[in-house]
Amino acid sequence: MNAVRLPLHPQPDPEAAFLALHAVGKVWQRPRQPPLVALDNVSFTLPERQVGVLLGPSGCGKSTLLRMVAGLDTPSSGEITLGGDLITDTGRDRGMVFQSYTSFPWLTVLQNVEYGLRTHGESLALKEGTAHYFIERVGLTPFKDAYPDQLSGGMRQRVAIARALATYPRLLLMDEPFGALDAETRWQMQELLLEVVAKEKMTVLIVTHDIDEALFLGDSIIFLSRHPGRVREIFTPGFKSGARILRKEELYEQPGYRSLEKRIMHLMRDEGAKA
Ligand SMILES: Nc1ncnc2c1ncn2[C@@H]1O[C@H](COP(=O)(O)OP(=O)(O)OP(=O)(O)O)[C@@H](O)[C@H]1O
Ligand SMILES: [Mg+2]
Repeated sequence: MNAVRLPLHPQPDPEAAFLALHAVGKVWQRPRQPPLVALDNVSFTLPERQVGVLLGPSGCGKSTLLRMVAGLDTPSSGEITLGGDLITDTGRDRGMVFQSYTSFPWLTVLQNVEYGLRTHGESLALKEGTAHYFIERVGLTPFKDAYPDQLSGGMRQRVAIARALATYPRLLLMDEPFGALDAETRWQMQELLLEVVAKEKMTVLIVTHDIDEALFLGDSIIFLSRHPGRVREIFTPGFKSGARILRKEELYEQPGYRSLEKRIMHLMRDEGAKA
């Protein structure tokens, strides 16, 4: 059995908002074009150890929002706090899986997954054990010595997922991480995510276009309206069943699943009609 790093996350206060957005707005300044209001007055909170899903039409500002929570961009108005502290920069407490794959092409799968751990000052054995564990969990052990350009798009996406999970961030930010995966791998990755989140006590904010994925993963679903992105509605599906992770196919048998799916589809069509 390989050594795997144990999480050091403190006990959360279930009542407290871990991530909080207060009236966040983002205006992009563009050369030779008028400024673009990407997000307007966005407020929501996410308690620790929960999965928040950002759902909304293309261009409504989901990636912009995630980048600001990561500290890669700054809000034009309002503020974002994490554990009560204002986010002003990137930090080790946050991990990010970007919308496009971001593996280093000159490193192998194993080296890519280990890379994130290097900055955490881990011992070599611990680093290797953790990297091997997550490479196994995303089904890439036979490819651990391959380079990203020798992998398919979906495999590269799994490298990025393994890399982010292996650093055990307190807040994991994921921008459509399962978009390039076939249906079965996608369910497996969704189930893996819920398992790791429950076991390692992570909090997740994830972007998706997929209603089914949102309902399976989300403790809350923040539905953003089309351009500029505003919070149109927040849903709390409640389909998770405590300690046991639902199988994907069990989701469809949950009472209330179909009606909630329909409501969200209706919202999507309504926002689509505004295009
Ligand atoms: N760096 C930037 N400079 C100027 N405008 C930007 C920049 N990044 C994003 N935008 C604009 O902000 C708006 C929101 O973009 P964003 O990428 O956040 O949307 P999204 O909801 O993630 O869309 P998708 O679902 O297609 O990924 C878009 O109109 C986009 O053109
Ligand atoms: Mg995006």
